[in-house]
Amino acid sequence: MTDIDIKKGLAGVTVDYTAVSKVNPDTNSLLYRGYPVQELAATQPFEAVAYLLWHGELPTAQQLAELRATERRYRALTDEVKQAIDLLPLGAHPMDEVRTAASVIGAADLAGIDNVMDAVGTPEENLQRSIRLFAALPAVVAYGQRRRRGQELVVARDDLNYAENFLWMTFGEDVDEVVVDAFNTSMILYAEHSFNASTFTARVIASTLSDLYSAVVGAIGALKGPLHGGANEAVLHIFDEIGDAWNVNSWLDEALAAKRKIMGFGHRVYKRGDSRVPTMKAALDRLVDHYDRPDVRALYSALENEFVSRKGIYPNLDYPSGPAYNLMGFDTLTFTPLFVAARITGWTAHIMEQQASNALIRPLSAYNGPDERHIEGYVPDAANA
Ligand code: CMC
Repeated sequence: MTDIDIKKGLAGVTVDYTAVSKVNPDTNSLLYRGYPVQELAATQPFEAVAYLLWHGELPTAQQLAELRATERRYRALTDEVKQAIDLLPLGAHPMDEVRTAASVIGAADLAGIDNVMDAVGTPEENLQRSIRLFAALPAVVAYGQRRRRGQELVVARDDLNYAENFLWMTFGEDVDEVVVDAFNTSMILYAEHSFNASTFTARVIASTLSDLYSAVVGAIGALKGPLHGGANEAVLHIFDEIGDAWNVNSWLDEALAAKRKIMGFGHRVYKRGDSRVPTMKAALDRLVDHYDRPDVRALYSALENEFVSRKGIYPNLDYPSGPAYNLMGFDTLTFTPLFVAARITGWTAHIMEQQASNALIRPLSAYNGPDERHIEGYVPDAANA
C-alpha cells in the first residue's frame, strides 16, 4: 500500500472558507458573523440572530419586524405535516419525526418543480425556504412531544415572539420570563458552529445542486447521532443512571472501566473547554434557582469536577443544555429536535453560502481492499474461503 496521509474523520482538515461563524479554540471564542455568541445570547432575540446568520448583519427594527411577520405566517402546523406525523408510530424517535416533517414541508413547497435543475432555487427563494423551516419546525417539535404525552395540539399564538410561542405550543401555558430567557439563550448557542458534522453534511448535499430541503433532511440525520446532537439527550440518561451526586465516583469508576464515553464531555475542536458552556451554565443556574432544584446543581458539579480532574476533558454545550431542557419540562427525547430547531438557522446560512460559491464536494479515498481478481475464479456453490 502506498504511504498516503489519511486524515481519519477529516480531523484537522480545513476544507473551505466560511463567513458565517468563527470557532477559535485558542481564545475559546465563537463568533457569529463577527459577534461573540455570548453577547448575542445576552442581548438578542433568536429571530435577530437568525437574521444575522442569513444576512451577515443584525437587523434594523423594521427588518426584524418583517422577519417576525413572515415567521408568524409559517408558524402553524399544516394539515399535510400533521397527517405525516400522525402516520408515524408513537414509538418513532422524535428525530425521525422532525426529519420526516422537514421532508414533507420541502415536498409541498417544491411541488410542481419537475426539472431538477430548477429545484436548487434562487438566493431569494432559498432565503424564503430557510425562513419557512425556521418558522415551521417549532410546531413540529412541540406537537411531537404533546402527541407522545397523549395531549392535543396547541395552536400557535400571533401575540408571542419565537421563544414564547415555542414554549406555548409545547406546554399550552404561559411560562416565566426566566424560562423564556434560558430557552432563547439555548437557541442562540445552538444556532451555529462552523463545519460540524451536520452542517458539513448539508454542504455536501447542497454542493450537488440538490435543493435546500434535501440538504436539511440529511443534516437532521447527521445530528441525530450521539457523537453530535444526540449527546444532549444522552446526558440526561447518564444523570438518570447516576441518580445522586453521592453516586458520581462509583458510577464513574464503572463507566470508565467499561471504556464508556461520558456524554456531554469532549469536543473535536475545543480541547480546553467549549466557549458556549459558561453562558448556558449561567442560564441553567437561573433555572435551578427558579425551580428550586439544588440537587441538579450538585449532580452537575460533582460529575463535572470528577470527570475533569480524572481525564482533563471538559463539558461541551450539551452538558448544561440537557438538564436545562429537563427543568423546563421538555421530555428527554425532545432535546435533539430542539437542537434542530436552533441549528436550522446555521445549516441554511451554510447551504446558501455553499450555493453562492459552489464546488462539488467529492474527496478521494485510498483503496485497501483485495487486489484485482477476475470472475473466472468465482464458484457460486463453493463456501467463501
Ligand atoms: N468520555 C470519555 N472519554 C472521552 C470523551 C468522553 N466524552 N471524549 C473524548 N474521550 C477520550 C477518548 O476516549 C480518547 O481517548 P484515547 O485517546 O485514550 O482513546 C480521547 O479522549 C480522544 O477522543 P476522540 O473521541 O478520539 O476525540 P474526538 O475529537 O474524535 O471526539 C467527541 C470528540 C465529541 C466525539 C468525543 O469527545 C465524544 O465522543 N464525546 C461524547 C459525545 C458528546 O458529548 N458529543 C457532543 C459534542 S459537542 C456538540 C456537537 O457539536 O454536537
